[in-house]
Amino acid sequence: VLVFLALIPGAVLAKDSIVLGFSQVGAESEWRTANTQSIKEAATQEGITLKFSDAQQKQENQIKAIRSFIAQRVNVIAFSPVVETGWEPVLREAKAARIPVILTDRAVSVKDESLWLSFLGSDFVEEGRRAAKWLVGYAPIQELAAKGEVNIVELQGTVGSAPAIDRKKGFEEVLKDQPKFKIIRSQTGDFTRAKGKEVMEAFLKAEGKKINVLYAHNDDMAIGAIQAIEEAGLKPGKDVIIVSIDAVKGAFEAMIAGKLNCTVECNPQLGPQLMRLVKDVVAGKQVPRRIVTQESVFPQESAAREFPNRKY
Ligand code: AHR
Repeated sequence: VLVFLALIPGAVLAKDSIVLGFSQVGAESEWRTANTQSIKEAATQEGITLKFSDAQQKQENQIKAIRSFIAQRVNVIAFSPVVETGWEPVLREAKAARIPVILTDRAVSVKDESLWLSFLGSDFVEEGRRAAKWLVGYAPIQELAAKGEVNIVELQGTVGSAPAIDRKKGFEEVLKDQPKFKIIRSQTGDFTRAKGKEVMEAFLKAEGKKINVLYAHNDDMAIGAIQAIEEAGLKPGKDVIIVSIDAVKGAFEAMIAGKLNCTVECNPQLGPQLMRLVKDVVAGKQVPRRIVTQESVFPQESAAREFPNRKY
């Protein structure tokens, strides 16, 4: 059997297989589900043995998973950190065990930058900038700004996470030169539909028809908020202009229904690039310190055309 396997091109014998420990944030959004699927499929495709752990949005679960990967002596550890801070001790343990660490999707904030080898994922600050630039250039909003103020409510992602911090930063950076644009409320919806709906209900209760725009740090929260807006007797996409981030299929469906105005892409399909990186690391090749994913912006008018091409 071993001789037979060795003759199949690309076949990897179990004893030779690279072992990758991957700690995922959770299953909080459509984006995350697509990301997990991409990683699992790519590992199978590349013959990499994947030890996958779901942290259910809790940092302590990720720390436990990484410690268990160290104890199991995996070849490489990769993880998508739920929050930016608090990683030094466990990453020092991985370094002491000489296990290389790759960050995927989200970054960490650590003083000792030698604690991780490479970071593969989106530029979240740029995504925030793209959302704001689209908003400022959107004709109905320009008309509103010509008459008075544009009142924005913001649904932030998980507190302390890189995408929540960076998407806020990028959005505000563009708006600081736009005195008519005001963020009147900003609160976390933890990247979930349920929380997005709940927080939007509270925004509507407090501000009512004063709200002109919703900026949601992901599509799932926007989709939850759309429900809240409809239940309040308002028209999402018209009475409240909505821009969010991810470009998942659910966002395209909402845009086709006229309920979401724009989505900024954040590509979850990181699996193939991650597996390439893992193989290069194990082969002792030098790998890039930062790999940024290429992404687009999809306004409502492009939704019907683009929908059939969407992979997630
Ligand atoms: O880190 C990426 C973000 O996490 C996605 O935008 C969001 O949907 C997910 O939960």
